[in-house]
Amino acid sequence: MSVLLTGGLGYIGSHTAVELLEDGKQVVVIDNLSNSNIDVADKIKKIVGSRCAENLKVYIGDVRDKKILDKIFTEEHIDSVIHFAGLKAVGESVQKPVEYYDNNLTSTLVLLNTMKHFNVKNFVFSSSATVYGRAKSMPIYEDFEIGATNPYGQTKLFIEQILKDLYLSDNSYNIAILRYFNPIGAHDSGLIGEDPNGIPNNLMPYISKVATGKLECLSVFGNDYDTHDGTGVRDYIHVVDLAKGHLKALNKLKTNCGLKIYNLGTGVGYSVLDIVNAYNKVCGGKVKYKIAPRRPGDIDICYANADKAYKEMGWKAERDLEDMCKTSWNFENKNTKR
Ligand code: NAD
Ligand code: UD1
Repeated sequence: MSVLLTGGLGYIGSHTAVELLEDGKQVVVIDNLSNSNIDVADKIKKIVGSRCAENLKVYIGDVRDKKILDKIFTEEHIDSVIHFAGLKAVGESVQKPVEYYDNNLTSTLVLLNTMKHFNVKNFVFSSSATVYGRAKSMPIYEDFEIGATNPYGQTKLFIEQILKDLYLSDNSYNIAILRYFNPIGAHDSGLIGEDPNGIPNNLMPYISKVATGKLECLSVFGNDYDTHDGTGVRDYIHVVDLAKGHLKALNKLKTNCGLKIYNLGTGVGYSVLDIVNAYNKVCGGKVKYKIAPRRPGDIDICYANADKAYKEMGWKAERDLEDMCKTSWNFENKNTKR
């Protein structure tokens, strides 16, 4: 039996494909390459070695295209789906709401309809800490109130609701909603990692590009937040730890768990300047920064309580901040677009 990864050539999907293949699983990927490159398939194969590489099959296509999904579910023995595919830039979602609602919602609906047709009922969904908006206190627990402040976040909320309604209508489904905090870092091989098109919006890829001299200087958005050094605090999690969480979630689905929601974070908050300082230690002090005004829409502090994932799935993040910075730096040097 195979696991279908939608968006499996993207940042989190590619790391998850490696973990699943190394665990001996058969993996089928569908990706439309809108934010990834076909080379990633070869890099995944190189990392896992020839024996496991035989267990990877890649289809290039759009999850909204019912025909290609029918073909995949007919040709492959899919028993579980991890749904990564989607657009993910908050700012862009405000500029292009229709594209975001269409891509993220239509892909999910076409996928769930196809799964229903082929009687596949195991589903893992990539949700986000963004669904907590401005949480009332820290750390954030899974039962906190949810709400969205932008179209990207709305798509995550809508999909979570669709999954809850689906489970209510048929409780033979097993569904894991994984709310990721801030994934950073890259695979130890330096072959796969995060390589966004254009100027990065997120902190870590921006820092990496300043360190290599591709960008001049990091703007630290605000130093007057109510945090230990005044800069924004987040729960950064190594992408390999996050990928391993998906393996644990698939195992959990096998216990007929019903619908479950888990925070995937470390439970530790680091500030922007903590990240800059840690990165400077591994790259030899190349990250120049200046203090800039707050970025509209940002919150001061956000970190998880991830105890539920440990208690119920046996998962916890293991890699530290130094490892996140080292692997980002290694990937940036080896791989990213010039
Ligand atoms: P990514 O952009 O690197 O990967 C998404 C992949 O999906 C890309 O390879 C893209 O080409 C593909 N894709 C997009 N729309 C598609 C479609 N309609 N059909 C087929 N393929 C499609 O993003 P990522 O960081 O790996 O994120 C994966 C998921 O996790 C997304 O749903 C994202 O919203 C969610 N998430 C990411 C973060 C983060 O910080 N990276 C945080 C929280 C949640
Ligand atoms: C952002 C999204 C969030 C999404 C997450 C992962 C917003 C408001 N939120 O979260 O929905 O799930 O990315 O894709 O966009 N920072 C700087 N300078 C920079 C970039 C960032 O100081 O050039 C600071 C930010 O102010 C923040 C921290 O770094 O305090 C992390 O920012 P970022 O990596 O963009 O992630 P989030 O804002 O947490």
